[in-house]
Amino acid sequence: MPIKVITADITGLHLDAIVNAANPGLLGGGGVDGAIHRAAGPALLQACHALPECAPGVRCPTGEARITLGFALPARHVIHTVGPIWHGGDHGEALLLKHCYRNTMRLLREHGGHTIAFPAISCGVYGYPAALAAAVAVATLRDELVATDDIDVTLCCFSEGMQTVFQRALAP
Ligand code: APR
Repeated sequence: MPIKVITADITGLHLDAIVNAANPGLLGGGGVDGAIHRAAGPALLQACHALPECAPGVRCPTGEARITLGFALPARHVIHTVGPIWHGGDHGEALLLKHCYRNTMRLLREHGGHTIAFPAISCGVYGYPAALAAAVAVATLRDELVATDDIDVTLCCFSEGMQTVFQRALAP
């Protein structure tokens, strides 16, 4: 199935999973993380808190992903992933961002999901240049979808400008 790009509030989407652009602590934050926690209700924070720490204060290292239920959200699951902070591009950012998409898709498959929406991971507070992030997102998701045609991927932007950037990355 083709990858779609939309402009919407990701918290309103009725899908098997929505993706949270989280931080390693997984206890909420601003941006899409804050919006998801507000819409999901306090049970999401409790579920995140219950995830094991792999280092003090770290429940999800950069590039990895963790899954919870969606609680009050219309989405069944939230897959939390931690994008890289942009440090100029020569600190492994592209590989870490690729791992975010790949690990998220792996969790979706493991939980039998078929529909998922991603926000523009790392493109807000974490400062990743949107066109570069969109290129990584599209290339990685295309790779992931080569072997399957039963997963419907939506790239959920929060502004028309961001939608244009992601749409350009999808153009042949
Ligand atoms: N729906 C869809 N997209 C949204 C929403 C929403 N409700 N709210 C914000 N966004 C968009 C932003 O406009 C941006 O394009 O999500 C993209 C990612 O931005 P951030 O949320 O800032 O995520 P990121 O850059 O990955 O930074 C992660 O921000 O809040 C913290 O806890 C989070 O520390 C972590 C950091």
